[in-house]
Amino acid sequence: MPIPKAELHLHIEGTLEPELAFALAERNGVELPYADTEALREAYRFEDLQSFLNLYYELMAVLRTERDFEDLADAYLARAAAQGVRHAEIFFDPQAHLARGLSMGTVVEGLGRALDRAEADHGVSTRLILCFLRDESAESALATLDAARPYLDRITGVGLDSAEVGHPPAKFREVYEVAAALGLRRVAHAGEEGPPEYITEALDVLGVERVDHGLRCMESAELVERLVRERVPLTLCPLSNVRLRAVDVLADHPLAAMLDAGLVCTVNSDDPAYFGGYVGDNFDAVRSALGLSEGRLRELARNSFLASFLDDDEARRARYLSEVEAYEF
Ligand code: ADE
Ligand code: ZN
Repeated sequence: MPIPKAELHLHIEGTLEPELAFALAERNGVELPYADTEALREAYRFEDLQSFLNLYYELMAVLRTERDFEDLADAYLARAAAQGVRHAEIFFDPQAHLARGLSMGTVVEGLGRALDRAEADHGVSTRLILCFLRDESAESALATLDAARPYLDRITGVGLDSAEVGHPPAKFREVYEVAAALGLRRVAHAGEEGPPEYITEALDVLGVERVDHGLRCMESAELVERLVRERVPLTLCPLSNVRLRAVDVLADHPLAAMLDAGLVCTVNSDDPAYFGGYVGDNFDAVRSALGLSEGRLRELARNSFLASFLDDDEARRARYLSEVEAYEF
């Protein structure tokens, strides 16, 4: 059995495997511009974040009904559980679905149906994090949060994703203020492709409690020192960084140096259907490429629970942490 872990950086739409995409396309009468799953997989060669996002948004066309979102989440939870995930904080991108004519209820209730069964079916506790698309307007983000108001009992926090460069965190100051006033937790992608200044801005302007990716903090010694001092968790996604060319090869990934620097790192899968692996695969890949010790792997698993939004269930967090300490490699 793999080491118990929490997954904190996972876009549910990024778990859409080619087989499920074709099955949903058939069920919904949607035509995909690919002959078959093999032809689709051929398209999984990305130059950068944008080239991936183009395909990611295109394939969302197959998601139409509550049942589609339920099936998507259920398939993810089964795979995650098999790789040792005990707790998953799941991002979703409602703006992309609202723009296609779906309702917030279809998305949230559909995901919710799978999440309600996750503990019983897969032994995984869950949280949902609503992400704003940063390449859309601040007004659109505010309207999206408004549309989510009837569903806030199902939503733990807000995040910020999509094309990073040219869309600095400060653009979303107001919607993050509203989210905070509603009692929502706050995270944001920063420093994936964008500069270290975006990480600082996400902390200072948006008040984020975790930074998604945060890879480029390593370009600023001052920022690293702050992240260490304030114990700000970073949700790293090593296989994603290779596929989207943030790093050339996994052996060049700064994760080991980041841990050595004292940063609170976690390892996650981002969009596992597209990047060649779920979270356990990411653990295995960094273990072999970077030669991480068992102590470091245990630290990554421990960090994942410490950084999770389990503050409303400390008994559960403690149970998961004791599973990590008791784990035998
Ligand atoms: N949306 C899905 N995956 C993403 C990523 N890695 N970065 C930004 N936005 C995303
Ligand atoms: Zn991401």
